[in-house]
Amino acid sequence: MQLVFDSLTGNVRRLVGRVARQVGGVAVLDLRRDMPEGDFLLLTYTFHRGAVPDSTRAFLARHSHRLLGVVASGSYHWGEHFARAADRIAEEYHVPVVAKVNKSGTDADVARIARWVQNRQQLSSPFPLPPFPEDPWNPGSN
Ligand SMILES: Cc1cc2nc3c(=O)[nH]c(=O)nc-3n(C[C@H](O)[C@H](O)[C@H](O)COP(=O)(O)O)c2cc1C
Repeated sequence: MQLVFDSLTGNVRRLVGRVARQVGGVAVLDLRRDMPEGDFLLLTYTFHRGAVPDSTRAFLARHSHRLLGVVASGSYHWGEHFARAADRIAEEYHVPVVAKVNKSGTDADVARIARWVQNRQQLSSPFPLPPFPEDPWNPGSN
């Protein structure tokens, strides 16, 4: 699995770097520059009252068949629109919301996303291990 990200001001870029360090050995791709070569987790941000950024939309129009799940960053400042890009993408492409994070996320967010990636990697391994415990995402877990 690969980690594909979109970032305008750097928060998602920082988040994906921390997740990759925690998981170890996972490729990180910038969707504005790179092409995915397999299944991926998408990490993106939220723009203009809950919207999915155009760059992310354009990427998904071509590569959504490899999308496994979505993480969206946002800002609590946006209230009901907080990180809504995750909900929109999850609904449209029928994938799970792995996390919604404020800015570049907390240590708990990073651990949660890393655990999800490790579990998915195990599922596609020829020697699967029992999954790490995983709780459904909820807004109170940060
Ligand atoms: C013009 C503008 C609109 C935004 N709209 C939203 C929004 O509707 N909902 C939200 O949760 N965050 C919103 N944000 C906050 C960003 O999603 C947040 O800062 C995110 O971490 C940016 O990620 P990046 O630094 O990787 O680009 C907005 C930020 C800007 C500058």
